[in-house]
Amino acid sequence: MRQHVNPLSSNFKQIERIPSLHEMFVDPKLNFHLDVGSAAGDFLFDLALVNTSWNYLGIEIREKLVKNAQLKVLKREIKNLYFLFGNANNILDDFQNKFIIKNLKSISFNFPDPWFKKRHYKRRVIQPEFINMLSNSLQKETLIFIKTDVKDLFDYMDSTISSNFHFKTIDKKDFNYSESFNPNKVQTTREKYASINKVDIFEQIYMKI
Ligand SMILES: C[S@@+](CC[C@H](N)C(=O)[O-])C[C@H]1O[C@@H](n2cnc3c(N)ncnc32)[C@H](O)[C@@H]1O
Repeated sequence: MRQHVNPLSSNFKQIERIPSLHEMFVDPKLNFHLDVGSAAGDFLFDLALVNTSWNYLGIEIREKLVKNAQLKVLKREIKNLYFLFGNANNILDDFQNKFIIKNLKSISFNFPDPWFKKRHYKRRVIQPEFINMLSNSLQKETLIFIKTDVKDLFDYMDSTISSNFHFKTIDKKDFNYSESFNPNKVQTTREKYASINKVDIFEQIYMKI
């Protein structure tokens, strides 16, 4: 399976119809979390089974991973989990899909692809225009969680989000986890690898104000 997919490829410009929240989840009124770059979905499977009072959506650009994850959801009859294939930036920016952003309580960007070369920075999922679009559509108090083991990428994401005055940083020690699904109880696949190899992890939480 290809490890890196160019999100700017024209393949991802065409956006298929996205199912409504009623079609994705048995109870569309539950708290709603989005994981961007969900890969095989292990993080969301773990969360969905533990937190049945939340709905979880994963968006992933590698189609095979999404097909397999969605088959697993159906096979296990999980009612609060759904996976969408495509470039998250394009999907969320599409006016027909604004219902996703408007209903979210939180979003996670876990270990997004770093795209190390400067000329490839524009392929990074967090971009000023994307954060601006989120800031215009997210409800107040929606949380954004970022996590990475690449310091340069952390600085880039942190400065991009912090420079938008609609987001404030939440100090981890002041964060009331009881009001969230507590994403830090569950490790992502990349996070498990980073922990085993004792690699530093950089993370931050922001709130839309
Ligand atoms: C390094 S992996 C991390 C996977 C997982 N979040 C974790 O922490 O283990 C980054 C994932 O983001 C996906 N991805 C990258 N850019 C994306 C985009 N614009 N939209 C959706 N998925 C994207 C990649 O295909 C890959 O599966």
